Amino acid sequence: MPLIPAEAHLINTEPCAAPPRHVAIIMDGNGRWAAARHLPRVAGHREGARAVRRTIEAAMRQKIDWLTIYAFSSENWRRPAGEVLDLTGLLRQYLRTEIAELGSNGVRMRFIGDRDRFDEGIQKDLAKAEADTAGNKRLNLTVALSYGARAEILAAARGMADAVAAGKLARSDLTEETFGRFLSTDGIPDPDLIIRTSGEQRLSNFLLWQAAYAELVFLDVLWPDFDAQHFAAALAAFAGRERRFGARPA
Ligand code: IPE
Ligand code: IPE
Ligand code: MG
Repeated sequence: MPLIPAEAHLINTEPCAAPPRHVAIIMDGNGRWAAARHLPRVAGHREGARAVRRTIEAAMRQKIDWLTIYAFSSENWRRPAGEVLDLTGLLRQYLRTEIAELGSNGVRMRFIGDRDRFDEGIQKDLAKAEADTAGNKRLNLTVALSYGARAEILAAARGMADAVAAGKLARSDLTEETFGRFLSTDGIPDPDLIIRTSGEQRLSNFLLWQAAYAELVFLDVLWPDFDAQHFAAALAAFAGRERRFGARPA
């Protein structure tokens, strides 16, 4: 089935005038969505996976080049074992069932985060998804899994220190740009817009370095209810922002 349904034109999601190049999303609120329906939390996570599919479609329709989604944080391992098992199970299922179709729709997949913490089967599926879609150009989809920005920054600092110690880098080469090359987002532009659902207003250790000048949009919708209209609303909010990057407005 194509990712963009034929009836797509019926949905009122006009591409906005100056869309952000890179949109990142903190997909939050699955548990509350389930609780409101007296369902187990896993039902919220399952419905959240459907929202991911809708969001990828919406991003492609809006001609977004880069989409990054926060699916599992390094801190989420602290959740009860049963929930972690449900989440990794859903991830495994998602990788097995969705990647081929994403690939055939021109999506290039990347994963950031500490993938060593997942079992070998998932690690293989992640590597395969990246390899199989490496030639795609329509949408760059990055999924943050077992991701934490502080750990990422620390690893980059260590990598840079090692390179200096080995004589591969001079101390005078240590610029913001060089540092960026040691981050897991090397080659990915900084996010222009970060959306968080569920009404929480925090970054929860997401892209702390890369978010320096991102516009933040917090939406009151719970992630499983997120759809193309919410995506369009976030883009509209972005379009209304004046980005100054520290300079004086003209
Ligand atoms: C987001 O939903 C999914 C993950 C963090 C894995 P939550 O599970 O955090 O849902 P709430 O915040 O408890 O509602
Ligand atoms: C952030 O959500 C992580 C993801 C959406 C994957 P959390 O629900 O884990 O964040 P906190 O604990 O409310 O900050
Ligand atoms: Mg949450």
